[in-house]
Amino acid sequence: SRDSKLLYFKTPASVSLCFIQFKVFLSKTFTVLGSDQPIIAVVGEVVVLPCQLSPRMSAVNKTIRWFRDQINSPVYLYKNRFHITDKQDQAYRGRTTLFIEELGIGNVSLGMRNVRVSDEGIYGCFVESLIWYEETTIEVIVTVGTGSDPLIYPDDYEGKRIQLGCKSSGWYPKPEVTWTDGKSQKLTSVSETIETEDDGLFSVNSYVITGDSSHKPTCRIQNNFMKETRESIVFSSKSMFFFPSVSPWLVAFFVLLGLVPVAICIAI
Ligand SMILES: *[C@@H]1O[C@H](CO)[C@@H](O)[C@H](O)[C@H]1NC(C)=O
Ligand SMILES: *[C@@H]1O[C@H](CO)[C@@H](O)[C@H](O)[C@H]1NC(C)=O
Repeated sequence: SRDSKLLYFKTPASVSLCFIQFKVFLSKTFTVLGSDQPIIAVVGEVVVLPCQLSPRMSAVNKTIRWFRDQINSPVYLYKNRFHITDKQDQAYRGRTTLFIEELGIGNVSLGMRNVRVSDEGIYGCFVESLIWYEETTIEVIVTVGTGSDPLIYPDDYEGKRIQLGCKSSGWYPKPEVTWTDGKSQKLTSVSETIETEDDGLFSVNSYVITGDSSHKPTCRIQNNFMKETRESIVFSSKSMFFFPSVSPWLVAFFVLLGLVPVAICIAI
């Protein structure tokens, strides 16, 4: 039943030639409550991973272990009233804490600052007394609000048509890019690339081709998770058409024209 639990105690091999397991039938003394919902953590900010003893009782004399995959290199370990840091996972050193003043009321939540993309995942909150232990898991989802303002730039010219690029960096999770012509008509992008930056955030490049100089192409980038967007508008794509599409023959002609006086000088 949910109200009782079998505990297995192993005697050390040095004491006994063979392992003897004592099954001790105990009645439940507490549970730990985490969160059914994933916890949203914003890159660079502080997050609290909830974990609470129920019924409310002091956790001061209990072992509190926060961990991810490696139970032996915990995110945080509190034992015998000490905060034990020597085996702590490097990635969490100096970034995680328990709320000492809350332990007396069984609040063993973990505070974590300067959230990184790599903090995303499942965390275990394990609490142990001399006679009982309980564990719960908490899912952390990392996000940023928005990345950088999108930059629209002319990428390529082809006759009277122009390929515009839109780029923005610092997004997580992967953002969604939509282009419009400035009059709520959607423009279809011809290609899109998403790259991972060093810090795990994403940068995005999206391209559209437009031949209509009345368009005011608008690039909108959305973090679907947070429903936050950034938008940039080219006030008139006329300005983008300002660069004439120069024929290479024309360039050659002018270069040669420039060389004529030089050639004459040399000849003289
Ligand atoms: C914790 O243990 C200490 C020493 O054994 C004891 O004095 C104290 O009352 C205990 N505190 C709680 C809240 O159980
Ligand atoms: C536990 O303490 C943290 C930090 O003070 C707080 O944010 C959280 O709401 C507390 N949890 C409960 C269940 O009281």
